[in-house]
Amino acid sequence: MASAKPVAVITGASAGIGAALAHVFADHGHALVLVARRAPQLKALADLIEERGRARPTVIVIDLSRPDAAARIEEELRESGLEPQYLVNNAGFGLVGDFAGLDRADQLAMIDLNVRVLTELSLRFAASLAQHRGGMLNVASVASFLPGPGMAVYHATKAYVLSFSEALHCEMQSQGVRVTALCPGPVVTEFQARARMPDGYFPRFLARAAERVAREGYEGMMRGQRVVVPGSTIKIAVSLLRLLPRGLVLWMLRTAARPR
Ligand SMILES: NC(=O)c1ccc[n+]([C@@H]2O[C@H](COP(=O)([O-])OP(=O)(O)OC[C@H]3O[C@@H](n4cnc5c(N)ncnc54)[C@H](OP(=O)(O)O)[C@@H]3O)[C@@H](O)[C@H]2O)c1
Repeated sequence: MASAKPVAVITGASAGIGAALAHVFADHGHALVLVARRAPQLKALADLIEERGRARPTVIVIDLSRPDAAARIEEELRESGLEPQYLVNNAGFGLVGDFAGLDRADQLAMIDLNVRVLTELSLRFAASLAQHRGGMLNVASVASFLPGPGMAVYHATKAYVLSFSEALHCEMQSQGVRVTALCPGPVVTEFQARARMPDGYFPRFLARAAERVAREGYEGMMRGQRVVVPGSTIKIAVSLLRLLPRGLVLWMLRTAARPR
């Protein structure tokens, strides 16, 4: 029987940071599986990667919020003779607004995608990552480090991603699996529109290109880094905010996020 081919599975690859990560993984010679809901965007990305002389990625068009999504992805990989060596849990979204005023179903869907799906895919593929001595790159956020009045549920989901990834980093090290939390500051993508983020929500000078974030995330994981915070300004800001009293930080964030 032919042995299964190791691949890097990237969720949320149809846009933004996920698409940038697909290019970085492809440029380093990894065979890819691209996952998201929009077929045309995934196909266009697969075409582009192939045109650049890389192996054509496999595309899986699926809504990850379906309860059976992770099982279906696992089945599709098995049927195609593919085994995850790398898992990039990138798909996610945020919502701006006080939690009591935001749609309940939308917020629960955010927890489902940002937390449950990420956890289920990690559980399903952990053995395969270990077998191939690969890695897991979980896209968290600077929001992981702080509570977020005005984006409360989003920050809480990303705190989970950071905590989960750091624990897995320790647990899976002995199996040769590198687990990294990628914690970007603002990146201009479709994220802002989906989150209904008003203009001026964050200072533009803090924004970093998706391509740089993706490259730093990939390199950090390959080096075996536990946490990657791209950009020195954001790194310093995160370190300073962690030193300040929590009450003061909450007041600052609340004041900054209040609608003007
Ligand atoms: N942009 C930022 O400022 C920023 C900062 C820190 C962290 N992050 C994190 O980075 C990650 C990527 O965000 P981004 O900025 O690249 O956002 P984006 O441009 O909106 O991309 C989100 C990706 O997730 C996919 N996705 C969303 N819901 C899905 C679902 N139900 N099923 C399958 N795929 C789904 C989207 O594809 P389809 O619509 O085709 O399904 C898209 O490919 C997220 O986890 C986000 O929280 C972003």
